[in-house]
Amino acid sequence: MRADIVVLPGDGIGPEVTTAAVAVLKAVGKRHGHEFRFTEHLIGGAAIDATGEPLPSATLDAARKADAVLLGAVGGPQWSDPKAKVRPEQGLLAIRKALGLYANLRPVKPHSVALGASPIKPHLLQGVDLIVVRELTGGIYFGDKTRSADSASDLCTYSVGEIERVVRRACELARTRRGKVTSVDKANVLETSRLWREVATRVVAEEFPDITLEHQLVDSMAMHLLAKPREYDVIVTENMFGDILTDEASMLAGSLGLLPSASLGEGRVGLYEPIHGSAPDIAGKGIANPYATILSAAMLLRHSLGLEVEAACIELAVDKALDAGVHTADIASAGRAANTAAATAAVLEQLQAHCYVAELRD
Ligand code: NAD
Ligand code: IPM
Ligand code: MN
Repeated sequence: MRADIVVLPGDGIGPEVTTAAVAVLKAVGKRHGHEFRFTEHLIGGAAIDATGEPLPSATLDAARKADAVLLGAVGGPQWSDPKAKVRPEQGLLAIRKALGLYANLRPVKPHSVALGASPIKPHLLQGVDLIVVRELTGGIYFGDKTRSADSASDLCTYSVGEIERVVRRACELARTRRGKVTSVDKANVLETSRLWREVATRVVAEEFPDITLEHQLVDSMAMHLLAKPREYDVIVTENMFGDILTDEASMLAGSLGLLPSASLGEGRVGLYEPIHGSAPDIAGKGIANPYATILSAAMLLRHSLGLEVEAACIELAVDKALDAGVHTADIASAGRAANTAAATAAVLEQLQAHCYVAELRD
């Protein structure tokens, strides 16, 4: 297959982790006979420095024409002046919105490395396999903002249609898993959450009678997620709750550097990025964990290109690299930590060793 993949390295550790993921995609492409074409474009702080804008039109045009987009991270202290008119993060929000990527899938299935790396007790982590479907183009992130000398506001709005489509996506996903959806809101306080709960209840009753739906308030969800993570299958929630709960959920896996994501809309083009940020504290040192971005590349193959076998190969190779003890500093328990290059090399080596499935199939 031929595919055009737009790569947006962004800021901080973004370029370090996308370099790793592109190397893995190239290796998989070569091994399985695919022609992946990569073109790099600017986003975030790097784009502001070069063009004055966080999402230059050349980047958006390229993304619209591509089969998929792979992104590192945006942001950093040099662009974080509270008085700044343009911010790197606006570029990320704008590309998600422009491409209509309303469903952000964030799977959490801890590898056994978590037993040492996570602050959560090991017996709670065994058997955890959940996925958060985060609404990505609505809510408080995108409502009108106001600012005067002595007050500020951010409007949170959701329409019925916005809630319906993301709940449907979550239910469809649940049908391929354990058939359970937990809808998270703050319906005891927020009007948007009361609408969310009403719509989620109706969509499941009318269209997904086979799905078990439960509602959970976001504050207690934050607690249950750590106390009984095994109970959850698909969690669907609004934009900001999903952002916060998934950084929390990364502690079930052991590090932010292990969680990938896929942002999907109605079309085929999706955007794939780790859930972590630009990690300014470790940027430029070559020590970032590349596994989250490499696993995001696997999601890209699965969701945008339909290459399930190749996606599974990457996931297996990351698993095996972790099994082999190739751990970056964020997850290393004792001894020397691997750097980004060594972790990437380990995945490439494991691909060579284990991913012959496509050859058998052919
Ligand atoms: P962060 O996710 O960048 O970092 C939080 C902590 O996790 C840091 O200690 C960092 O070193 C560590 N970490 C993150 N990814 C890692 C990796 N791959 N390997 C090893 N350690 C890793 O969050 P932050 O510090 O709150 O934000 C920094 C900047 O990133 C901000 O400008 C923020 O807006 C931006 N950000 C961007 C995205 C994105 O582009 N999708 C996501 C989150 C934050
Ligand atoms: C993420 C990030 C972004 C978000 C920021 C950088 C805009 O935290 O992708 O999780 O809040 O969506
Ligand atoms: Mn986030």
